[in-house]
Amino acid sequence: MSDPKKSLSPVWNRYTQIHVDHAEGAFIYSADGRRYLDFTCGIGVTNTGHCHPKVVAAAQAQIGKLIHGQANLVYHQPMLDLVTELQRVFPPHLNCYFFSNSGAEAVEASLKLARNATGRPNLIVFQGSFHGRTVGTMSLDTSNTIYRKGYQPLMPGVFVAPFAYAYHYGWSEKETTRFCLKQLRHLLATQTAPEETAAILIEPILGEGGYVVPSEGFLQGVEEIARENSILLIADEIQSGFGRTGQWFAFQHFGLAPDIVVMAKGLASGFPLSGIAARRELMERWLPGSHGGTYGGNAVGCAAATATVRVMREEGLIENSARMGVKLQAALQGLQQRFPVIGQVRGLGLMVGVEFTTASGEPDQASAKAVWHHCLDNGLMLLTCGTYGNVIRWIPPLIISDAHLDEALSIYERALAAVAA
Ligand SMILES: Cc1ncc(COP(=O)(O)O)c(C=O)c1O
Repeated sequence: MSDPKKSLSPVWNRYTQIHVDHAEGAFIYSADGRRYLDFTCGIGVTNTGHCHPKVVAAAQAQIGKLIHGQANLVYHQPMLDLVTELQRVFPPHLNCYFFSNSGAEAVEASLKLARNATGRPNLIVFQGSFHGRTVGTMSLDTSNTIYRKGYQPLMPGVFVAPFAYAYHYGWSEKETTRFCLKQLRHLLATQTAPEETAAILIEPILGEGGYVVPSEGFLQGVEEIARENSILLIADEIQSGFGRTGQWFAFQHFGLAPDIVVMAKGLASGFPLSGIAARRELMERWLPGSHGGTYGGNAVGCAAATATVRVMREEGLIENSARMGVKLQAALQGLQQRFPVIGQVRGLGLMVGVEFTTASGEPDQASAKAVWHHCLDNGLMLLTCGTYGNVIRWIPPLIISDAHLDEALSIYERALAAVAA
């Protein structure tokens, strides 16, 4: 028989060749006996750490009782328990929920809800955004052409506004916010009339697009423009949600009140569960039967998600994310002083990006990649992101201790020194 790895589709763009045996907390252990500090969280998923005992226990207890309770056919207790937990997590106006499996599916649900409930066809997204890989969601992706190249034509009715990424423009925060809001208004005046625009969809902090915290006042301005024009505001919190930024959701840092919030990844600690939260009146305008799915809101996934939310609260993981995030950014900024290849350190909580830039101010993918590689060889798993692959993203589990962080920083510092040499 041939090597089964060779029978896996090459469409999976592989970062590493690690063959994982098991994982626990902040560590992944490979089949060849190596230990890696996992600061990728499986792309922002295992926020409670790998195989948190309470999440494992909840899933194991559920699996022997009911695996699949199809949502059109029955109510099941794990979904009702999850709803009860989510009611405590979300602001009171986001009191109605729909569940699906992947992030892209949940984004699609948010768009279908927005179109169906408003009767308007168009959507506005932002430069640098990533919302998924289905035909609908790839039509919303603007972080890199790889997501759409070879798949055109895309879904029509999508319009792109600039995201307030001051470092990219090389402008002050104030100038950037002013320009981007002006362009958003211009888009509504020139390309998609407000009465034809169902929703503005935004990642409050760009994920795949480079871990970019928008310049001050931008998100509030976007919300104001949405309200003025009766356009729905959808926050894609798939990567930035569930404690990642030191709040339950990133939109809370900016005082926003989105009409729809999209969640996945950290929601269920690794089980494929996603969903959207919205006002009940809005959900009531969604034509019953016009959306759904066989597996959405799987019972084991919901039990794991309920345990995840409880663990986050009981173990103070959001507070830990905020505290460790401050320490992480301070340390990374200290290293920025010593290594000129680092152009910017930015982020909130444990969602932190380090942008590598050449001496002439261009994106420096080679250095980011070399540092990333050196870290991997020395037992620290990180990820890159950004249109030009020149941002190293830090997404450790929210359970990390000072010791974990110190170990990671010392590997990273050695990597920077090696690459600078
Ligand atoms: C902000 C954001 N939206 C949507 C998605 C798509 O999620 P999934 O890969 O689960 O479909 C991702 C995945 O990285 C994401 O980061």
